[in-house]
Amino acid sequence: MVRSVTHDMLPQATADEVSRQQFIVALKQGLNRGLRSTQGELFERVVAPAYEAEHGHPPAQREEIRAAMQAEPAYQTWSALARAAQEQMWVAVGDSVFRDRFRMARRAAELDASPQRLGSLTLNPNFEPPRGVTAVDIHLQTGGYALDLGGYDCSAGALYEVGGNLYAFGQGISRTDSKSAHVQRFIAERFPQLKPKRILDMGCSAGSASVPYALAFPEAEVHAIDVGAGMLRYAHARAEALGAAVHFHQMDVAATSFPDQYFDLIVSHNVMHEISDATRRGMFRESRRLLRPGGVCIHQDVPLRFGGLSEFKKFELSWDTRHNNEPYWEVYANCDPKPELEAAGFAQDCIHVGSLSAAAGSLPWFVACGWISA
Ligand SMILES: C[S@@+](CC[C@H](N)C(=O)[O-])C[C@H]1O[C@@H](n2cnc3c(N)ncnc32)[C@H](O)[C@@H]1O
Repeated sequence: MVRSVTHDMLPQATADEVSRQQFIVALKQGLNRGLRSTQGELFERVVAPAYEAEHGHPPAQREEIRAAMQAEPAYQTWSALARAAQEQMWVAVGDSVFRDRFRMARRAAELDASPQRLGSLTLNPNFEPPRGVTAVDIHLQTGGYALDLGGYDCSAGALYEVGGNLYAFGQGISRTDSKSAHVQRFIAERFPQLKPKRILDMGCSAGSASVPYALAFPEAEVHAIDVGAGMLRYAHARAEALGAAVHFHQMDVAATSFPDQYFDLIVSHNVMHEISDATRRGMFRESRRLLRPGGVCIHQDVPLRFGGLSEFKKFELSWDTRHNNEPYWEVYANCDPKPELEAAGFAQDCIHVGSLSAAAGSLPWFVACGWISA
């Protein structure tokens, strides 16, 4: 599905706000694609020799590398700018979202009350979002995923959609839906017999993947879960505005209230890197419980794997844990989903863990996939 579509729920940015957002994208491109790529050379040519001259050995452990790099002014400058650019991104997005939030709330209420409504929204007033979500504003998103300003407030979802777009340098949520499109291609190649009657999207955020599944499988009943009420109100209204039938629920991925064997297809997109080991294992167990015979679960995420990487590369990639409020980034990079899927009850020969590229000729998204024989 092409997501360059505009829809009623997107915050209406002023020309000044758009210009500022474009500046942030350009700044982030320069910092991430340009300056960041020179860090290896800076380390080899300047930082490591200076460290060795002082300590009598080159920096080998990740903490030695971190200490040496963090003392280097060029790295300090890059790191401070990268953090500032991320903060400025949320400020720029927040300008539009918080100015336009009452219009968005009214529109969400209208879409929810419409007799033409296709899907539904079920919030649980007694639900407490897990501490892993509320304790930090993940990747610095203002107010965090569970931000809820009450009423029909949709700010969290609007921040996520617009911020996600800028975060990915303009290639994110509103352009082509890379993640779910590639997983759908993987399904077509690997499980051509699968004709899902019920689909569950776990950790759906603004529903950017839920909508493409609803459009790709019009015969299926599509459900999507997340923890934040503001996120889910937005996802529901956005799906309605895009003409997609999705049923959104406020539930935890590790403990849903759906009955056993309720789904034929369960997916999650970019969730594993934002949850703890315990929650990820719980999500796998829940996937196994919810799948009926012949069913498939596919948990997709970024191809961030620490196994086999140099200590310098691990240091570089761990920037997000320390400076971008991604507490589970390295937890995910070090995890091994195969034994966890087995422990969740999937048979050894009903598990695929690895890159999507081999199977689907796509971007190298990482998947942890389990299925149950029919
Ligand atoms: C990176 S976003 C997911 C993006 C989304 N799947 C997409 O395709 O655009 C991670 C989401 O997982 C949700 N989440 C984190 N922990 C969760 C949990 N225990 N149960 C349900 N959702 C959770 C967060 O609220 C957040 O919306």
